[in-house]
Amino acid sequence: MGIRVAIMGATGAVGQEFLTLLRERNFPISELRLLASARSAGKTMRFGDEDIVVQELTHNSFEGLDLVLASAGGSISKEYAPSAVKAGAVVVDNTSYYRMKEGVPLVIPEINPEAIFQHKGIIANPNCSTIIMCLPLFPLHKRYGIKRVVVSTYQAASGAGAVAMQELLDETQAKIDGKDFNRTVIPHPYAFNLFPHNSPMTDNGYCEEELKMINETRKIFGDESLAISATCVRVPVLRAHSESVNVEFVKDPDVDECYKILAQTEGVEVLEDRTANRWAMPLDASGKDPVLVGRLRKDISLANTLEFWVVGDQIRKGAALNAVQIAEKLFKTR
Ligand code: A2P
Repeated sequence: MGIRVAIMGATGAVGQEFLTLLRERNFPISELRLLASARSAGKTMRFGDEDIVVQELTHNSFEGLDLVLASAGGSISKEYAPSAVKAGAVVVDNTSYYRMKEGVPLVIPEINPEAIFQHKGIIANPNCSTIIMCLPLFPLHKRYGIKRVVVSTYQAASGAGAVAMQELLDETQAKIDGKDFNRTVIPHPYAFNLFPHNSPMTDNGYCEEELKMINETRKIFGDESLAISATCVRVPVLRAHSESVNVEFVKDPDVDECYKILAQTEGVEVLEDRTANRWAMPLDASGKDPVLVGRLRKDISLANTLEFWVVGDQIRKGAALNAVQIAEKLFKTR
């Protein structure tokens, strides 16, 4: 028996990746419904050798479905996910709206798969930067015990959606051609520039993206007191995020052992060539499933402290892949 699936936000950057992944991973689909705004209704999208017509999302879009993969923005999930649940579907929600809600599991399948089965209709997919940091961080935490984490991110345009990716390309071309450019999605000059993350600023001086990394990591690790600080930055890269992570542990970490632990961690790959001074870059991670780690070293300024570098595809493991892996575990298809 196949699973009846809808993608909410099918035409977006993550929505399109859902189509690719469901096919690539042979997810057992008996029906696939593509939902987007009225702007896209009637367009077709390719799924294998089928052309599927995109439908306008309404509260009646969910009859007879088993699974909804949602990635159309927080306000859309807020409004429509309850209708999907009422119609009997489980929603794996890629937006931030339900992540910190009591009783909604927030899941990285390699870390807390057991939480999936506590759902009451909605399972939340964590923030992309959170997933990319947590994958290598968790096994090190289990071995040495985190005392404090300081992370700085270098985030790609894809986190702001397909339109932002196109805008980065167009602005770069305009700059090269010496032409003026009117931005519509990205708030600051982006080509040949970078800027602190543009998510809303909060009273304590952290932006919402930084607080997501902090609060979501605590929920996923099941430790509300985890000490963590983040600085998030957007860089003119198309689709993979990079992060510099500094972790003070309770026990003294051994660098060789850390490499061994990470080499054995599901979803993580060590990629580096020390002699060539070559480390994982966003282009290495783009389109790939694992997050790439390297540059492990003891922090010379503080005892028991490790530095590492991690790069991951924001659209794939940072979003669509993680959600599909949740669905695979939920329906026991792998
Ligand atoms: P559309 O392409 O019709 O605007 P991204 O994250 O790449 O920006 O994609 C956002 C996704 O969410 C797109 O599929 C977009 O559809 C969809 N979306 C945005 N607003 C709505 C809405 N009001 N109703 C349904 N889908 C929406």
